[in-house]
Amino acid sequence: MTTTAPGLTLALGSPDDTTRFAHALGGVLAAGDTVLLDGPVGAGKSFLARALIRSLQEIPEDVPSPTFTLVQTYHTRAGEIWHADLYRLGGPDEIDELGLSEAFDTAICLIEWPDRLGPLVPDNALTLRLDPDSGDEDARHARLRWRDPKWKARLERLRHD
Ligand SMILES: Nc1ncnc2c1ncn2[C@@H]1O[C@H](COP(=O)(O)OP(=O)(O)OP(=O)(O)O)[C@@H](O)[C@H]1O
Ligand SMILES: [Mg+2]
Repeated sequence: MTTTAPGLTLALGSPDDTTRFAHALGGVLAAGDTVLLDGPVGAGKSFLARALIRSLQEIPEDVPSPTFTLVQTYHTRAGEIWHADLYRLGGPDEIDELGLSEAFDTAICLIEWPDRLGPLVPDNALTLRLDPDSGDEDARHARLRWRDPKWKARLERLRHD
């Protein structure tokens, strides 16, 4: 018998909905949390990460997409945030070189193209998959899945805050 991971789905009807959701999610994250931002090119992974990071910054600064740098780090009210885009990762060896393995334990990590992590994907991560809507170009569907039970409580808080 296979058991499917628990999850929930959300309709994000506009970029503003995604921003609101990103702010709410940012409010329940702490050091040691990893969010895997999955979904196709242009789905809104960087958009969501940027909104989340900005909402936690004490001094607003630019949040560029880490397309070429692979990783950008930020000091925020919630501690250090690592924003990674692993699309151009050379190979699994680079994950350690970037310091990501350690950051999974010590920082909040937001990871685009998490499939590049292969077996190094943290067991305790929340997967947040974004997909475009077939009819409305400003709408997205978000699917959240997790195995670590800590996420159930976190996401409950998110719904009641
Ligand atoms: N509801 C929505 N939520 C998020 N972004 C949206 C939404 N509607 C439209 N958009 C637009 O979609 C684009 C998403 O681009 P973004 O760079 O975030 O994609 P991405 O998933 O990071 O792609 P890549 O895989 O290339 O890194 C932005 O231009 C954003 O304004
Ligand atoms: Mg991106």
